[in-house]
Amino acid sequence: MLEHNQIVFFDTTLRDGEQSPGCTMHHDEKLRMAHQLASLGVDILEAGFPISSDGDFESVHTIAKEVKGPRIAALARAKRLDIESAARAVEPASLSRIHTFLSSSDIHLEHQMRISREEALDQAAESVRLARSLVEDVEFSPMDATRSEPAFLVKMVTVAVQAGATTINIPDTVGYTTPSEYSAIFQMLKREVPGSENVVFSTHCHDDLGLAVANSLAGIEGGARQIECTINGIGERAGNAALEEVAAALMVRRDHFPYKCGIKMEQLYPTSQMLGEIISFQCSPNKAIVGANAFAHESGIHQHGVLSNPLTYEIMTPASVGVPHTNIVLGKHSGRRALADRLEKLGHTLTREQLDEVYHRFTELADRKKSIYDQDLLKLLQLDKSTVSIA
Ligand code: KIV
Ligand code: ZN
Repeated sequence: MLEHNQIVFFDTTLRDGEQSPGCTMHHDEKLRMAHQLASLGVDILEAGFPISSDGDFESVHTIAKEVKGPRIAALARAKRLDIESAARAVEPASLSRIHTFLSSSDIHLEHQMRISREEALDQAAESVRLARSLVEDVEFSPMDATRSEPAFLVKMVTVAVQAGATTINIPDTVGYTTPSEYSAIFQMLKREVPGSENVVFSTHCHDDLGLAVANSLAGIEGGARQIECTINGIGERAGNAALEEVAAALMVRRDHFPYKCGIKMEQLYPTSQMLGEIISFQCSPNKAIVGANAFAHESGIHQHGVLSNPLTYEIMTPASVGVPHTNIVLGKHSGRRALADRLEKLGHTLTREQLDEVYHRFTELADRKKSIYDQDLLKLLQLDKSTVSIA
């Protein structure tokens, strides 16, 4: 069991993340990423879905053999062949987990699985029992939990716990829930499922309404102690909860979330960069924590504040999440202070009059040009006003 104030991170970048369009990774890329996720300090690493292809089986098997640190998990539908394949794939790991899932919502049971609720309960119990006969650590997910009838969700989680599940994950499969509703689901399960005190509850949130991180944090408030998430928030459709955002929220708002976790925060940015490079798909510049603009300041007022004391406009230091330096972006909203600071870094200390003159040229240029680079500034220093012409 976990200590009461511990949060564990279950990374599914290589499974749910890889399911997003354009994010497929080859065997060696997955292995490289898995080593980096171990350096980041994730507790559980879901390496893939072994029954889905020979390639995925091989990737999970190699990761289980070579990556030390995290517990290695493999996904399996609640079916004998899936579970046996998952068990073989994670067999070389010193710490392993089978993660098996079955839908609990009527819409899935009727239209996708085509089985009754009773059959679903039997299948869930049988699958968890089989998985437990193969590995010590078994996670069960009632898929589409947040659109399931609450009383039936309680029943399905109860049979999974009785069959030996050690972690119960509550997937918001279609990104439908809201923070207060999600938190209440955990409270209900902890209250109504016999033996709930012996299992770890987990969040698994998709971002269809842009609520994945908020819902994950609400899950913690409701009693969840495992967070399932991906680097850069990649995943099915709009993606999964972004690991770096959840981890940063726990760090910055320790006053509100008094928990400890094993994430090495300064590895967040390098991990995000590595994933972007592997899948040739960097996150958007305004992405929290790891986006190119996450620590960039363009307006003069903000730049002045950050240069005087970064805490004026930054709630964490860039270094604390592995970002090399604060990015003061010079543009048309920048002030004299930021310009003088950048010129000083480039080796030019100007008098007040010189700065006024160069600042005047700078604002003219900034009106015409979106981004001003260091080389543009150096030209401004050399050129007479009438000849400033930079494409
Ligand atoms: O979103 C989901 O329901 C899943 C399950 C397989 C856990 O990814
Ligand atoms: Zn998912």
